[in-house]
Amino acid sequence: MSGRLDVGACRISEMPHLRSLLNEVFITERDSSGDLFEFAPLLYSEANLQNLRVVRSGSRLVGHAGILPRLIRWRGQQFQAGLIGGVCARQDLRGQGIGTIAMEDAARRMEEIGLDFGVLWTGSPGFYERLGWRTAGGICVMGMQEAADTEIELHFEIMPLAESPFDPAKCHRLHEQAARNEVVRTCEETEALLSIGGRETFIALRGGRLGGYAVKTGETIREIEGDAAICIALLHHLAAEGARQCIFARSDPRIDAIEGALPVNLQRRPLGMVLIVDRASLLAKIADETGRSAGELGLGDDLSDDDLIARVFGSPEDEPSEEPLPVDVHIDYLDHV
Ligand SMILES: CC(C)(COP(=O)(O)OP(=O)(O)OC[C@H]1O[C@@H](n2cnc3c(N)ncnc32)[C@H](O)[C@@H]1OP(=O)(O)O)[C@@H](O)C(=O)NCCC(=O)NCCS
Repeated sequence: MSGRLDVGACRISEMPHLRSLLNEVFITERDSSGDLFEFAPLLYSEANLQNLRVVRSGSRLVGHAGILPRLIRWRGQQFQAGLIGGVCARQDLRGQGIGTIAMEDAARRMEEIGLDFGVLWTGSPGFYERLGWRTAGGICVMGMQEAADTEIELHFEIMPLAESPFDPAKCHRLHEQAARNEVVRTCEETEALLSIGGRETFIALRGGRLGGYAVKTGETIREIEGDAAICIALLHHLAAEGARQCIFARSDPRIDAIEGALPVNLQRRPLGMVLIVDRASLLAKIADETGRSAGELGLGDDLSDDDLIARVFGSPEDEPSEEPLPVDVHIDYLDHV
């Protein structure tokens, strides 16, 4: 490698180089198509430059780890989460510490801007485990390959949101009313979720009123809102439009009714990988909300970070409990990076 490595925030003049590095790694190397900057416009925005941590060898960009700070409103609290994206090292320079430098700098930056924890999704957990990240949380992935072939009685009209008289703000109202897992986005965040390139939103009408919606990216329905009957109609319709799976929170109460009506298969998976950035802040928020001290909740100082992550975010198998923990943040709802 020529020149010393240094790491820091991406400069505006480096954005085109970052874009080609990311597209080489995540699009060309994977024989895929598209543009990372379009898939994650909030992450790769000029407003977020300070959180795009790049590794340079001389003047050449050789690695990257991006952070999108995201407020997660859970009950009365606001968790400051950092969603990590675009972690990479230039292909010909892998195995020389560049990815590690980028991730260590991202962890420093998360601390500097006062985040509580980081979250990432990866097919390479081993790389992150070395750096303290732990697999945690849970989602339910509903496979729906055969749903289109099932006969169901259709009571709802389904159409693309774009062709309807409704707007994303109306969908947001349903999201807000449902308050699933006690996590609610802002209206602006819902608008971003629905409008990002490559996503399609379908709505279901009940007696002319908006009854539900589903947001589809490729073969995956990332979010579905409405009661179980509405979900069944949306899933059936979208299976015929090429949807193959739908993501739910791990203990979504609608799942049983859907399973009774459509041939679906369910798999529980971890939410992703989590890193605790500010333990004291995270615990203070949980204590404030529950009215119980960290010690009373079994989150005392003697608990290791690994055990803390397991206790706070739980695992895929966890069922709903009367206890405030685990916090079921279901970040797939928020993943419009
Ligand atoms: C994953 C990636 C960023 C690692 O970058 P890198 O610069 O090669 O990593 P480093 O040299 O810092 O690796 C340090 C250590 O992690 C290990 N490691 C690297 N990639 C790994 C992987 N995929 N799984 C497990 N361990 C891994 C290395 O063996 C090395 O271990 P050692 O210190 O015991 O020798 C890089 O391989 C990459 O760009 N991959 C393609 C893009 C990608 O998949 N990104 C992750 C998406 S979430």
